[in-house]
Amino acid sequence: MPVFKQWLLSRKCHDLPCEEDFEMHEEHTVDLRKGQVLCRALFMSVDPIVRLYMAYGMRPGDLVPGRQVARIVESRNKEFPKGKAIFGNLGWQTYSIVDPDSTFEMSGLELPIVENLPRQLDNSGLPKSACLGVLGIPGLIAYMALFYACKVRGGETIVISSAAGQVGHIMGQIAKYLGLKVIGYTGNSDKVSWIKTDLGFDWAFNYKTQDLRSTLKIAAPAGVDIFIDSVGGVFHNVVLESMAQNGRVCILGNLASYNNPKVVPMVPAVDMAIALKELRIFGFNVFRHFDRKEEALDQLLDWCKDGIVQPFEETVEGFENLAKAFVNQMEGKSQGKVIVRV
Ligand SMILES: NC(=O)c1ccc[n+]([C@@H]2O[C@H](COP(=O)([O-])OP(=O)(O)OC[C@H]3O[C@@H](n4cnc5c(N)ncnc54)[C@H](OP(=O)(O)O)[C@@H]3O)[C@@H](O)[C@H]2O)c1
Repeated sequence: MPVFKQWLLSRKCHDLPCEEDFEMHEEHTVDLRKGQVLCRALFMSVDPIVRLYMAYGMRPGDLVPGRQVARIVESRNKEFPKGKAIFGNLGWQTYSIVDPDSTFEMSGLELPIVENLPRQLDNSGLPKSACLGVLGIPGLIAYMALFYACKVRGGETIVISSAAGQVGHIMGQIAKYLGLKVIGYTGNSDKVSWIKTDLGFDWAFNYKTQDLRSTLKIAAPAGVDIFIDSVGGVFHNVVLESMAQNGRVCILGNLASYNNPKVVPMVPAVDMAIALKELRIFGFNVFRHFDRKEEALDQLLDWCKDGIVQPFEETVEGFENLAKAFVNQMEGKSQGKVIVRV
């Protein structure tokens, strides 16, 4: 039986994650049961959401969850023959045995554990890993949050936090194309220059070295119409003060608190800016919009083909570097969609 590799959680992590929080483990595959397939990982998706799983729910010894693109190398399922490529939630492991008909529960929905690659990938010129990036969850969040949740209009001013990240770098390009004034915040000068010069953001700032209030005064003198908040914490509170009348705040996540949920101030329950400016603050959950996935993927593909959206993948070579790639991502050392090629 082939031996394969897994990354397991080695211990509880209480702060910034480090490589020692994970350990490599070897496992043997077993014979397939009827309906099952054995697949070999090709590309692993690296995502900050893993940090949340580490804080809530995971125990030492658990397989680290994550999405991957894989190729079926053995099959006892006619719909999923040997040689076919699939993608899904198979975790940080080089081989998986899965019944492609099985599902998992997410946000009240039953979703398939693995799926066929999106048809939009065919003849697109994009790599298979794109179904983990621009034609995957990050691209869908970027598109769906702008259109379905924020209902953006040309001429509006949008602030995007973690703007050089997996979602942010795609969202900023779409917003710019739609005629919004796009202001992005990220954590180092190279990424600031990348989103401004290469991706065409109107304004880009380093939130670690530049004062948030002053930069908002310069870039959004009339106030912020839409704030895409992936970060929470102090950043959220300061942008709230700079919102325009009837501004919309779309909460995607809370990156600032993932490493240390106890010390980072959470979104304020009551803030006079919310009342006086009649702000609308709402959450966005991409999975709740999956019924409109095809429409979003078609549009994202067209924009990629036309060069309107230029997705960036930072590719790290080797499964053994997966934990390091995740740690680097959480430390802000990476940009765009982070992929590990197995
Ligand atoms: N609602 C949904 O349906 C859904 C689904 C999936 C993910 N999400 C959320 O969407 C957001 C964006 O996801 P993503 O995959 O594109 O992640 P991402 O933005 O690529 O996240 C990684 C980046 O976050 C920044 N970061 C890390 N710690 C930070 C901190 N303490 N304060 C500020 N920035 C920090 C770093 O960039 P810098 O150098 O710029 O700091 C890092 O490179 C996240 O909050 C994620 O949890 C939401």
